[in-house]
Amino acid sequence: LGMKLPEVITHELAAASLPKRPRFGHKGTFGHALVFGGSKPFVGAPLYSAHTAFHCGAGLSTLVIPEETYPVIASQNQTALIRTLPSDGGHFNGTGVAPELFEKVTAVAIGPGMGRFEAGPEFIRDIIDHLDAQPIVIDADGLFHIKDQMELLSRYEGPVVLTPHPGEMGTLTGKTVPEVEADRIGIAHDFASRHNVYLVLKGHRTIVATPEGIWVNPLGNDALAKGGTGDLLTGMITAFLAQGARPEDAMRAAVHIHAVSGERAALKGSHYGVVPDDIIEASREVLKQME
Ligand code: APR
Ligand code: MG
Repeated sequence: LGMKLPEVITHELAAASLPKRPRFGHKGTFGHALVFGGSKPFVGAPLYSAHTAFHCGAGLSTLVIPEETYPVIASQNQTALIRTLPSDGGHFNGTGVAPELFEKVTAVAIGPGMGRFEAGPEFIRDIIDHLDAQPIVIDADGLFHIKDQMELLSRYEGPVVLTPHPGEMGTLTGKTVPEVEADRIGIAHDFASRHNVYLVLKGHRTIVATPEGIWVNPLGNDALAKGGTGDLLTGMITAFLAQGARPEDAMRAAVHIHAVSGERAALKGSHYGVVPDDIIEASREVLKQME
């Protein structure tokens, strides 16, 4: 059905996809990333995303977290501004989204460590209603909350990037993980074009799909197979979007840098021993070779 063959994401393509950084730029030039996430069991995920957004060049990174998680998350935070919203039982309760949160925000991530809660679908609708076409990245349980409201995303004026792992892709499509894994390229291409969204289907050989094109990343290994690495990828994509990259560029650059950083970190810290912070550290060397 007119499906294009995927192109490989090379080092050169990824480097060409990085947002340019004018040397006279100030923090306002490089955008403001806003990350909605966190819940009582998942305090690390939003920190990883917001921290990586900063490491990958956003001028400002703000975390929006449930009130009850504030003491723990704030004590671990070094780089992000933090805002809280009302919560119940350690999760957002769906209230409190207000226009002030979005002032000067240039990209929004929704989902890292957010968990599942009853008002989730409504909460995400409310966030989207407050936005003004800024790019949105949806990950983790954010994907669970939007699975029955894809039409909302299809008609959003700005780009929407979804970053499912195969299990989350199954949730979005009603397929099993083996079904997703058996046709990664076809399913990613079909979903992105059908719903008019940008998609990163994660896992070994991550697929990047837009409504028009499809790419495959050949890099990365089991050093990345640890909780928290997905949150880094979300932060990287959000960082590049916040700096003004087109969604396909932001996805290609981030997927490549993430995979190469995992490989580099494994060379130093072993395939067993790599933790998300090692990947952030390695990503700085990788970025150095690309800028
Ligand atoms: N080769 C290449 N890349 C890999 C490999 C591999 N063998 N294993 C993992 N990765 C990459 C994936 O492509 C992806 O970018 O690591 C990242 C893992 O991301 P996630 O699966 O989202 O994992 P993460 O979010 O860090 O932790 C798991 O996510 O959605 C929730 O319910 C899930 O709580 C769980 C958490
Ligand atoms: Mg994840």
